[in-house]
Amino acid sequence: MALPRLRVCVLAGRTDACARTGHPLPDKALGIVGLGYVGLPLALAFADAGNEVVGLDTDATKLTDLAAGRSYIEDVDEAALAALAPRLHPTADYADLEDCAAVIVCVPTPLSNSREPDLSYLREAAAQVAAHLQPGQLIVLESTSYPGTTREELLPALSAGGRTVGEDFFLAFSPERIDPGRSDHSIRTTPKLVGGITAACTEHARDLYAQICDTVEVLSSPETAELAKLLENIFRSVNIALVNEIAQLCDRLGIDVWEVVDAAATKPFGFMRFDPGPGMGGHCLPVDPFYLAFKAREHDFYPEFVELAGKVNQAQPEFCVRRIERVLNDAGKPVKGSRILILGASYKPGIGDTRESPALRIMTLLRDLGAELSYHDPFVPELPAQGLTSVDLAAGLADTDLLAIVTAHPGVDHAAAVAAVPRAIDFRGISRKFDADNVERL
Ligand SMILES: NC(=O)c1ccc[n+]([C@@H]2O[C@H](COP(=O)([O-])OP(=O)(O)OC[C@H]3O[C@@H](n4cnc5c(N)ncnc54)[C@H](O)[C@@H]3O)[C@@H](O)[C@H]2O)c1
Repeated sequence: MALPRLRVCVLAGRTDACARTGHPLPDKALGIVGLGYVGLPLALAFADAGNEVVGLDTDATKLTDLAAGRSYIEDVDEAALAALAPRLHPTADYADLEDCAAVIVCVPTPLSNSREPDLSYLREAAAQVAAHLQPGQLIVLESTSYPGTTREELLPALSAGGRTVGEDFFLAFSPERIDPGRSDHSIRTTPKLVGGITAACTEHARDLYAQICDTVEVLSSPETAELAKLLENIFRSVNIALVNEIAQLCDRLGIDVWEVVDAAATKPFGFMRFDPGPGMGGHCLPVDPFYLAFKAREHDFYPEFVELAGKVNQAQPEFCVRRIERVLNDAGKPVKGSRILILGASYKPGIGDTRESPALRIMTLLRDLGAELSYHDPFVPELPAQGLTSVDLAAGLADTDLLAIVTAHPGVDHAAAVAAVPRAIDFRGISRKFDADNVERL
C-alpha cells in the first residue's frame, strides 16, 4: 500500500491550476500546516526528496518572508531555501491542500494561562483540513500532545459526514523529534515513529516518511507514538531537574557542581550527562509535563515525579536571582538601582527562540526588585513584552554593575565580556573555559 497510489487518486483529473483557488498546482503535492521550527525544515526535507510542497501558515509575515526567500528559522539557511523554493508553495489558503496526497499538521500546542493544554490552534487546523479533505488523503499530526489527541480531536473532525478512517481517508500521529540548533543529527538520521488509527493508516504514514528518514519505526497506535514523544521530553525534564537540584545543594556545600558532573560523566555506562542551568525553556520541555498531567488526571492518576520535575525547573530562575543578589550584596550593592546586563535571552545557544525562556523570568524578578536591566542577545533583537531591545555588547559592558551569562551563544567572546565588567555570574559554565577571578558560577 504505497503512497503513489494515493497520489494518483488525489491528483487524477487535475489541470495546471487549482480549480478552487486558481493557484498553480504542484506536481506530487504534499501539504504542511504550520511553517515554524518544526514545519519549515520538514517542508524543505520533503521538497529536497522531490516532492512539491504546499506550505500553509496563518502568519502573513512568514509567508511574505518565504516568498522573498528570507529564512526566519536559524537552522534553515537561505541558500537551501533558495534551492528548494521552486518546489515550496507558501499559502494561507486551506483549499490548496485539496491538491495534496498527504497533509502534515505542525501547529503550536502551548499552555493556557491556567497551565492547561491549549488545543485551539490544533482544533482550528483540524476543522480547516476536514473542510477540504479529499478522498484517500493521509493526514498526519506532528504537534506534541497528550495520548489520545489524534483519536479524540482529529478523528471526529475528519470523520464528519460519514467518512470512514482507513478507507475514505487515513490518519496517523508521528512526533517531531527535531532539536533546533543541533547539527549532529538531522531529520534523515533521526528514526521516525509512526502510529496510525488503522493498519492501513500506519502503512501510508510509514511510506510517506520513508522518503525523508532512513529509519521509520512502526508503532501499534497513535497513542503509543504520542506518549513516546512525551516520555522523551519528560526524561530530559526530570534529568535537568535532578542536576539543577544537585546544583542548589552544591551551592550549600561549597562544591563545584560542574566538576561533579564532569566527574560522573567519566563513567562509560549507566550515566547520561545533563548540565545544570538557569531553568528550562522552549516550546517543549516546560510544556509537555502539563500535557501528560492533564490526561493523567482524567484517569485519577497524579504523575508526581513528572510534576515535581516541572516544579524544580520552574523554581531555578528564582535560585539564579538569589545568586545575583548575593554577588551584588558581597560588593555592598542592593539589586535596586544596580545596572545588570543579561547576556543571552533565548532559551538555548545558537537560536532566537525565547518561548518560556528562563532569562525572561530572571529579568522579570530582577525588575521587580528594582534593577536597571539591559540585555544583549545576537539572536534576539528585541523583547517587546519587556519593552527592551538588545544593546550593543561593548556599550552594555561599559555601563554595568553585574554581567549575568544566562545563555552562552556561539560567536560571543565571553572571556572578553567578563574581563570588561567589575563582576559577573555565569549560569552556563562557559567561564570554565577561561581564567577570571571576577566571575561566580552556578
Ligand atoms: N520547536 C521544537 O523544537 C519542537 C520539537 C518537537 C516538537 N515540537 C512541537 O511541534 C509543534 C509546533 O512547534 P513549533 O516549534 O514548530 O511552533 P512554531 O510556533 O514555531 O510554528 C507553528 C506555526 O504554526 C502556525 N499556525 C498556527 N495556527 C495555525 C493554523 N490554524 N493553521 C496554519 N498554521 C498555523 C503559526 O503561525 C506558526 O508559524 C508543537 O506542538 C511543538 O510542541 C516542537
